[in-house]
Amino acid sequence: MPNLVRFGVSLEDDLLNKFDRHIKQHKYTNRSEAVRDLIREELVKKEWTENKEVTGAITIVYDHHTRELVNKVLDIQHDHYASILSTQHIHLDHHNCFEIIVTSGKATEIEKLFMKLKSTKGVKHAGFLMATKGEGLK
Ligand code: NI
Repeated sequence: MPNLVRFGVSLEDDLLNKFDRHIKQHKYTNRSEAVRDLIREELVKKEWTENKEVTGAITIVYDHHTRELVNKVLDIQHDHYASILSTQHIHLDHHNCFEIIVTSGKATEIEKLFMKLKSTKGVKHAGFLMATKGEGLK
């Protein structure tokens, strides 16, 4: 169990009121956990900007009838196989496919993979989630 350290924070009452409304909307039971989450969020962003080993998820939606698109999407994923842990393919309807690509590796490599998929002609939407391997976060 890590040592808990208490510290005081001074801020304008307007800002604190906004923060309290925010944490209520997000179902936090106290300010401490909300502050801890904000700190963790910043630390995860830092892992990405400092090109650490991270995890993430990429989603894409595309029409598999679009000429050569399935092959292009597959080629890109094979070019980046070292950053990909798994890919789940869901057939949304007769035309549209949804893929969730779970990634792990250097942040810049995952970003390259995302940008290649996003900029592929015919990909209707590409989503990106930055996550962490969790080391160093409590
Ligand atoms: Ni499909």
